[in-house]
Amino acid sequence: MKIAVVGTGYVGLVTGACFAEMGNQVICVDLDAEKVERMRQGECPIYEASLPEMLPRNIEEGRLRFTTSLAEAAETADIFFIAVGTNPAADGSADLSAVMAVARQLGETIQRPAIIVDKSTVPVGTGEKVEATVLDALKKRGENIEFEVISNPEFLKEGAAVADFMKPDRVIIGTDSEWARDVMGQLYAPFTAKNDRVLYMGRRDAEMTKYAANAMLATKISFMNEMASLAEKLDVDIEQVRHGIGSDPRIGYSFIYPGCGYGGSCFPKDVKALIQTAREQDFDPAILDAVERRNAAQKQRLSEKISARFGNDLTGHHFALWGLAFKPGTDDMREAPSKEVLAHIIQSGGTVTAHDPEAMDMARTELPAEWFESGRLKLAEHQYDVLDGADALILVTEWKPYRQPDFDTLAERLKQKIIFDGRNQYDPALMKKLGFEYQGIGRKN
Ligand code: UDX
Repeated sequence: MKIAVVGTGYVGLVTGACFAEMGNQVICVDLDAEKVERMRQGECPIYEASLPEMLPRNIEEGRLRFTTSLAEAAETADIFFIAVGTNPAADGSADLSAVMAVARQLGETIQRPAIIVDKSTVPVGTGEKVEATVLDALKKRGENIEFEVISNPEFLKEGAAVADFMKPDRVIIGTDSEWARDVMGQLYAPFTAKNDRVLYMGRRDAEMTKYAANAMLATKISFMNEMASLAEKLDVDIEQVRHGIGSDPRIGYSFIYPGCGYGGSCFPKDVKALIQTAREQDFDPAILDAVERRNAAQKQRLSEKISARFGNDLTGHHFALWGLAFKPGTDDMREAPSKEVLAHIIQSGGTVTAHDPEAMDMARTELPAEWFESGRLKLAEHQYDVLDGADALILVTEWKPYRQPDFDTLAERLKQKIIFDGRNQYDPALMKKLGFEYQGIGRKN
């Protein structure tokens, strides 16, 4: 099939590469000429497993191309994926300006019957707006080309994006058009054995499904974070509780890990956007509000614990920090809890040396330059090099090399044997035996 993917962020690039991998002809469109040039050379602009091998392979086979021109893509494509960003506007609602700009350009450029697919996470009702915009642009050209706008939200997780796309739990196709259903069913057939994982529904239903899925997962996390804070007050170990409830299949083990708050490009943005959607309908999103508030509070938990231990003025205190990315397996620092911990320490007069297996380049661009210039924040190339002279080690992201560290080295090189564990990776009993002062999230002290 001949496909155009507009926008080469995480979702767009993975979508394009995976469709090309299955033998389709894919052209990816992005406004960023420099990025397009790099991708043409086979360079992968994001850190994501398998993608760096997939790009050159599919480019060489002539299945994957890159351009800055949507008009060029429209010369060959029959299916257009809109995968541009929908970052929050000032009020938290999804900013649809990029989506609508693409819709207009599609109306201006499509040459023959087209299926236009909303892949970006967009509020309920966006499909109608995209359709009206395409139609309007077509009318202005005096053209009457058949097209369908459908919703096909993406559920991939960063760090496992290619694997998630290749073996999806489900593919949601939101449209009433039989033509579009047939074409999309064929397109996804190689990814979903016997097509038993393709779910067809209305366009608005599909749009809401994406938000409801992310909001549900964020709710599970915020609920557990609330239980963890309560557990601390009650001298209960939340990890015992987590095992105790996860064994109930109705609850399940996934997404009930308490921690220092959820981050990333999806949960924070999508929960905020759904709250805004509810408000626009004069509806009180009581649960979503609470999920959001709990997460904001949770991102302060490590900072609170650090200040409770060392005082509000951290002048003269130095800290070691492991993990800058918002989760393991990515270099993404969007809404990462590490940012809040670093800001707290630095603004309270302390200093930090940090390490991350993949996100250190990102940290240099994402974090205030002033933190580096003033020497308040340093990055260490090796994970153990953060330790020297530190009053405590703070674990923020549970990357594998941090999960079972050499505690003898920690004991030798830390100035004080104190660990703040934002991801409950270590066993409090072992920590006690090894002589560490240990604070987890919701752990019994
Ligand atoms: C998420 C959804 O999982 C994915 O389906 C959707 O398409 C995009 O949003 P992603 O943001 O890549 O994916 O990361 P995910 O692995 O879901 O983790 C999100 C955040 O929740 C991370 O900050 C993670 O640390 C946190 N988390 C996750 C917890 O704090 N506890 C958990 O039990 C699980």
